[in-house]
Amino acid sequence: MPSKQVTNNDNALYTTSNGAPVARPYAAEKIGVHGPLLLQDFHHIDLLAHFNRERIPERVVHAKGAGAHGYFELTHDITDLTSASLFKKIGNRARTTIRFSTVGGESGSADTARDPRGFAIKIRTDDGNLDWVFNNTPVFFLRDPAKFPHFIHTQKRDPQTHLKDADMTWDYFSQNPESIHQILILYSDRGTPDGYHNMHGYSGHTFKFVRDDGEWVYVQVHLRADGGFKTLDSATAGRLAGENPDYGIQKLFEAIENKQYPSWTVYVQTMTPEQAEQFRYNDFPLRPVGKIVLDENPQNYFAEIEQAAFSPSHIVPGIEPSADPVLQSRLFSYPDTHRHRLGVNYQQLPVNAPVVPVANFQRDGAGTFVSQGARPNYQSTISSLTYRSKPYADTEHKHELWAGHARAHLHEITELDFEQPRNLYTKVLSQSDREHLINNIAEALGAVKSTEIKARQLAIFAAVDQGLSDAIAKAIGVPTVQPLVVASADEAVPLKTNVGQTTVKVA
Ligand code: HEM
Repeated sequence: MPSKQVTNNDNALYTTSNGAPVARPYAAEKIGVHGPLLLQDFHHIDLLAHFNRERIPERVVHAKGAGAHGYFELTHDITDLTSASLFKKIGNRARTTIRFSTVGGESGSADTARDPRGFAIKIRTDDGNLDWVFNNTPVFFLRDPAKFPHFIHTQKRDPQTHLKDADMTWDYFSQNPESIHQILILYSDRGTPDGYHNMHGYSGHTFKFVRDDGEWVYVQVHLRADGGFKTLDSATAGRLAGENPDYGIQKLFEAIENKQYPSWTVYVQTMTPEQAEQFRYNDFPLRPVGKIVLDENPQNYFAEIEQAAFSPSHIVPGIEPSADPVLQSRLFSYPDTHRHRLGVNYQQLPVNAPVVPVANFQRDGAGTFVSQGARPNYQSTISSLTYRSKPYADTEHKHELWAGHARAHLHEITELDFEQPRNLYTKVLSQSDREHLINNIAEALGAVKSTEIKARQLAIFAAVDQGLSDAIAKAIGVPTVQPLVVASADEAVPLKTNVGQTTVKVA
């Protein structure tokens, strides 16, 4: 681990970047005492030139965050579900790094902002790195991935004013009613967790857990914080945003320093492909798998957390992506942005490098640390220094037969989109949760200038529950509106694998 590279007591001499000792770190070479500087002073030039290149692009989303190291430990047998090596033997442990984040703000923004939280996990298995790039909410804003950059733009700054803009945000939400379930979670107090580590994590998407014989199931992964999901009310979150914008980073760091190690129990929810065929909402129980504990703070934030590169496409044999279009688009997006943010050899950075040897035909490029030595850079028949291939299991995945014409398809909104939000509002939330939700929404929607946007969004709330919509209308002082009219649920195109329509309990 990178944290072991430098110790506090290694007797290091102060040096230039080529390791040459320098006696006086603050002294620049000049002609005389006041004279001009000398170009020959490599120490000085080295220092300035490196300083000028310290910044790398921040993440385009999830720029603000905190992270730590620890381990995953398998506590239950799930070999009936997957042949992944991580899950072979109870007691198996793997080094793990987690980075938590907010989504919309820049790297200096407040930790207590109302936003979903990222929950990105890198588990270093003996079959390569498994990244679980999760959020703290079980659903998502959209199911057509082409909407993602538009949506994110509306959460960020206006191109002209360079301000966050409530009209922009709610213009998007009110035009894209499939976001309603996520909005109700976001504007409940779940939208302002108490620190980064006091919250649950959810895969959102389904993945496939696959056995060597080709049998597979859809899986959602849930991480439940052993200390419970703690939240802040809007007033406290707002106050902390001003008084201590780094509240979440600080709480995580101090918890680990004080040996109050944050931990989560890992569960899976499984659904067979046959069950998916009839899927509406079944109650799929949570099955325990293991635990994750964070017990080590990074020694160096930049090296070990900022440079960490998580991707849903960093998976291992025994786990596969489902056909969820949003997941499929993410499989491309993350490594692409990593190459931009960290360079083509981002997987060689110590925090990202797998603990197993990497043997392939990728060579060279900027920042190559591991050249793979003399191993041939093509499939050689003459070199003894080649690689072994994993035995190939020639199995077909039943229920995975895709055929059709290429088409640009946009999923339409139906009554199905409102069933789970309605259940959340009327059955899951307590009376006080509902009051907070209404106040939190009123604070945000009340800041919108456009009466059209407000009315359009109120119609979406009314399609969830007329009482909810009317209470918000009253709180922001506008007329009540009729529910948005949508097609019946029977016309919904089933999206068995999609984050927008998963069966999850938010409690
Ligand atoms: C079309 C949908 C999505 C796209 C295109 C997308 C794209 C991105 C991109 C480009 C980043 C920056 C990564 C980096 O710089 O390393 C990111 C970060 C992240 N995304 Fe997404 N995202 C999408 C949806 C989601 C969903 C549904 C989840 C969770 C279920 C999620 C969780 C995260 C997390 C946790 C991070 C931060 C990773 C870190 O801490 O380094 N994203 N996303």
